[in-house]
Amino acid sequence: MSSHINLQLGWPTPRLFPAEQLAAATTSSLLDPEIAKSALIYGPDLGYTPFRESVAEWLTSFYQPPSGAIPIDRIAITGGASQNLASILQVFSDPNTTRRIWMVEPTYFLACTIFQDAGFAGRLRGVPENEHGIDIEFLRKKLSKFEYEASQNGVYHEIKPTTQYGKIFRHILYLTPTFSNPSAKTMSTPVRQQLLSLTREYDMLIISDDVYDFLRWPAEETKSTSVKMAPITPRLVDLDRATSSDDSWGNSISNGSFSKIVAPGVRVGWAEASTKIILRLSQNGATRSGGAPSHLTSTFLDHLLSSGAMQKHIDEILIRTYQSRYRVLMKAIKTHLEPLGVRITTGAPYTVPEDNNTIVPAGGFFTYITFPPELPSADVIAKRAKDEQALTFAYGAMFVVKGDETSAERSKQGFGNGARLCWAWHEEEEIEKGLKVMVEAFTDNSILLSALY
Ligand SMILES: Cc1ncc(COP(=O)(O)O)c(C=O)c1O
Repeated sequence: MSSHINLQLGWPTPRLFPAEQLAAATTSSLLDPEIAKSALIYGPDLGYTPFRESVAEWLTSFYQPPSGAIPIDRIAITGGASQNLASILQVFSDPNTTRRIWMVEPTYFLACTIFQDAGFAGRLRGVPENEHGIDIEFLRKKLSKFEYEASQNGVYHEIKPTTQYGKIFRHILYLTPTFSNPSAKTMSTPVRQQLLSLTREYDMLIISDDVYDFLRWPAEETKSTSVKMAPITPRLVDLDRATSSDDSWGNSISNGSFSKIVAPGVRVGWAEASTKIILRLSQNGATRSGGAPSHLTSTFLDHLLSSGAMQKHIDEILIRTYQSRYRVLMKAIKTHLEPLGVRITTGAPYTVPEDNNTIVPAGGFFTYITFPPELPSADVIAKRAKDEQALTFAYGAMFVVKGDETSAERSKQGFGNGARLCWAWHEEEEIEKGLKVMVEAFTDNSILLSALY
């Protein structure tokens, strides 16, 4: 690895890839004539059926949804969260009738381009996060104002015929509600419930990138064996299912991915939503023509998942490694940055411990820090760190919702003064070193530095 430390990169260290397990899964799948026959031909539109079954069973055991076991009809296999976001927009949005794309800010910046590609340039709007995940009242006011103005300005004409498309949503909300990229915040259950009610009022589809949920560990280290981690917060799609009729479209899609828990190169993910949404999603033109994306790789991942090798890899390699790096990062922030006024700003703990034996989780790939006003702006610190200390990190302004000037303005008062730090790419010593040298980019004032060390 080069001496340049990159705490921006949201990629796993290559040593964490389950290459051997994938090699075994590949050989075993392709040497089985029955599997090879179905793996090497066009696949079903909804995805490789045994894999959909394995995914449904695995998600059921992980999330334990309040409505019970997840039926296979709620699952479609995708080419990963990015590819599927584009597919969702092809099927459920229309640049003429879908009024606005609402993005929880700070946002996963690469999603902005996917929305722009779908015809929404200039119509992305930020919704600020707060301690509990999203400022619902801000969104409610904007929606109400926007709908009023739209009603005064006349009717929009659809580009896509409703008969073919089935359902076009008037609004779309994009977010990562658990261990968010970039803020690391997790939305509480009551806020998720309020958000769902709002989506129903305004004909809004929530696209929830649930890609970091599986990487969770106790936020604080404990030696006690009786302590258990608080249960996982229900996904928006679980709450939606629990409160919708079986024949409704619902208002949410869970956009899942194996990029963070197997390897990004596999380009495989899944979507979970109402049966109607899943069926319609699988009927987009490109899928109808070629079958579900990433079909061959899906058959390999099915082997990995159904044999238990994937969960073992997540538990024994990924969670152990990331948990340990997380602790090093937290300790380094406390040692090197907090004395200078830098704060960890990842929101309120979303699960309240039930008792002394319950501990809240941390997880995902990132943490977020905020610089105090007396330091230079985050982009200046980031530039100095890169040019002078060979250290890269993602600074706040990168997470502004593209094309929304008010999002850029708000960033200056909040997340723009911060940075996202990732523990996925570097080993512990490099993380520690990165945080230590970051301080040098805060100031040219050698007096401050000598006071510290
Ligand atoms: C929130 C979020 N969504 C989607 C992706 C990309 O997922 P995929 O590799 O499945 O396209 C990432 C990767 O960084 C992410 O952080």
